[in-house]
Amino acid sequence: MRVDIFTLFPEWFEWFASQRHVSNVLAAGSVLQCVNFRDHTPLSGGQVDDTPFGGGAGMVLRVDVVDSALRAHYDVDPVELRSQRRVIALAPNGRMLDDGLAAELAAEPALTLLCGRYEGFDERIIEHFTSDVVSIGRYVLSGGELAAMVVCDAVLRKLPGALGHERSAVEESFSAALEGDPEYPHYTRPAEYRGWRVPEVLLSGHHRRIGDWRRERSRERGEGPPQASGS
Ligand code: 6GU
Repeated sequence: MRVDIFTLFPEWFEWFASQRHVSNVLAAGSVLQCVNFRDHTPLSGGQVDDTPFGGGAGMVLRVDVVDSALRAHYDVDPVELRSQRRVIALAPNGRMLDDGLAAELAAEPALTLLCGRYEGFDERIIEHFTSDVVSIGRYVLSGGELAAMVVCDAVLRKLPGALGHERSAVEESFSAALEGDPEYPHYTRPAEYRGWRVPEVLLSGHHRRIGDWRRERSRERGEGPPQASGS
């Protein structure tokens, strides 16, 4: 998979790309490339954002800057680009990232992620250049970069070679193998610590009983978060 990330902070992604699970996928042939909006701005002084029409706080990423950056990188009118590949703006008002969306994106040959800053994007960027808007939760981050890393992490770990054991990604939280439920609890050595014992069934070597136990725990967790106590 090819992932291009358009951002004002490409250096943030150097740390991300050097992490083992990410570098494994990159070694297996995937490519993660950052493009700095500032390198392609048609404006003087490296300007990329501007104050919002109608007033208000913060700065908005300019549509002409994003147009130039996409056009320079892909050599195509950005209006056409979104019919060739998923062009995803990261913004808090977008479609919520979940395992289903991560799997959908992992099946794509190429993704383009646009990270806005400050108050986000001029709406014409969303209207004319993007195929998707994705959010990672109902809270506001100061930019799309961390959200882009979350999307990349969730997507890249689904690709072959990302994890030590291929099974890890199949039978994990929210996967089809667990019918959308969270994963069951895990334990490792020591079998007893400060009197806290690992469930006996896991030490039994009885694979069917272990499988049943795990499926049950997974289902319980899928029934929703525990209710707040004291009410
Ligand atoms: Cl994708 N961007 C920003 N700026 N804030 C967010 C977000 C994205 N998802 C949740 N909060």
